[in-house]
Amino acid sequence: MPAYAVIGAQWGDEGKGKIIDFLAENAAIVARYSGGNNAGHTVVNEGGTFKLHLVPSGICWPHTMNVIGNGVVVDPDVLIKEINENNLVPNRLSVSDRAHLIMPYHVVIDQLEEQRRGDAALGTTGRGVGPAYVDKVSRQGIRVGELLDAEDLNLRLTKIVGFKNELITKIYGGDPVDLDNIFEQTRKWASELAPYIKPVENLVAAAIDKKENVIVEGAQGALLDLDHGTYPFVTSSNPTVGGTLTGLGMGPNSYGGVAGVFKAYCTRVGAGPFPTEIHGEQGNRIREMAGEFGVTTGRARRIGWFDGVAAKYSARVNGFDGMIITRLDTLDGWDEIKICVAYEIDGVRTDQFPVDSVMLDRAKPIYESVTGWTESTRSITRPNQINQGAKAYLNKLEKVVGIPVKIVSTGPHRKETLVLEDLMS
Ligand code: IMO
Ligand code: MG
Repeated sequence: MPAYAVIGAQWGDEGKGKIIDFLAENAAIVARYSGGNNAGHTVVNEGGTFKLHLVPSGICWPHTMNVIGNGVVVDPDVLIKEINENNLVPNRLSVSDRAHLIMPYHVVIDQLEEQRRGDAALGTTGRGVGPAYVDKVSRQGIRVGELLDAEDLNLRLTKIVGFKNELITKIYGGDPVDLDNIFEQTRKWASELAPYIKPVENLVAAAIDKKENVIVEGAQGALLDLDHGTYPFVTSSNPTVGGTLTGLGMGPNSYGGVAGVFKAYCTRVGAGPFPTEIHGEQGNRIREMAGEFGVTTGRARRIGWFDGVAAKYSARVNGFDGMIITRLDTLDGWDEIKICVAYEIDGVRTDQFPVDSVMLDRAKPIYESVTGWTESTRSITRPNQINQGAKAYLNKLEKVVGIPVKIVSTGPHRKETLVLEDLMS
């Protein structure tokens, strides 16, 4: 009936794109609310394989309107490329006039800041996402709707680019960006994007009023949240449920449910604490089997066992009422599978997630093991096809996190999905 949020519950890359493409069959709208093209969502269905960074993962359904909300930061070149690659038209995609633009100087500054951090680099995706949000908060940002008024935009850009070039050259020792080039780019963006720019918040509100399904699509993950994640090793927006409300201009009573997408194990790209990280052979085995390399940057993902302490925290911060477990099939054939149920920090056992990154770095995982299974779970779609071992693992996850598993993904293709409980009922 109303809105359903599908939110990354770990450190991103949980398989949100695949799940949203699956669920969008029954959705009037799929809406992104946060982040930018730091996201990398892979969708595989009868139409082929789609690697999406900015446009929502509902684009493969002809009846679904895809919406980029005000909370997103938009690199216009990336948006235009994804529109063209996917043959999108304005009645399939809209972008909020209040979303902020990622400008060329944001990308330059993101990369220069990372270089300057040296050993303490965060491992950002280098897409300008952080600096664009900085400008939004410091009220120097440029909103998508401003593209439609060239005269005013040029006045603002002249001042802003002057300041950015001082920063780039004098603080970072980089090369300045060219103002005339940027003017020209904004004209091209305006002419290509104008038909897509709308107050999308009204579209979302109207669909909810009509009791049509709206799927709210997460990017990144709860543990990368600016407020609730492992700061400072986080992204610059709020992927958690609060971000959906500000990022789309909707109220909490619109929600019929909030589901968290968890991998059956954990991954993380970039720097930051990762208590259950598996080093060496076992980690490599999962990485190779599951192709754990970033869709956006191609970086090898760090691999870890399922972290039940972090998962419970994520469930609380988001108010999840269900888990969606992805990549279960990657665990086929292991003798033993570990689940972290508590941490030991400075000799003390705790099941509370320490949000302080320095403390989290000292956390030693306390594991419980379940016996693995030899039967394949790949491509299964019906509950009676789950073997006893895999079922015991899912039951254990439910017990540790305290919420039911509603959907299990058993392969990258849309069809490789097992529904245990209807998410949108
Ligand atoms: P999806 O939507 C995984 C990580 C980066 C880095 C940190 C900050 O595919 O799940 P940023 O460029 O956002 O300033 O980088 O956040 N990161 C992600 N990791 N999946 C993502 O998106 C991510 N988006 C950002 O690796 O550690
Ligand atoms: Mg990804």
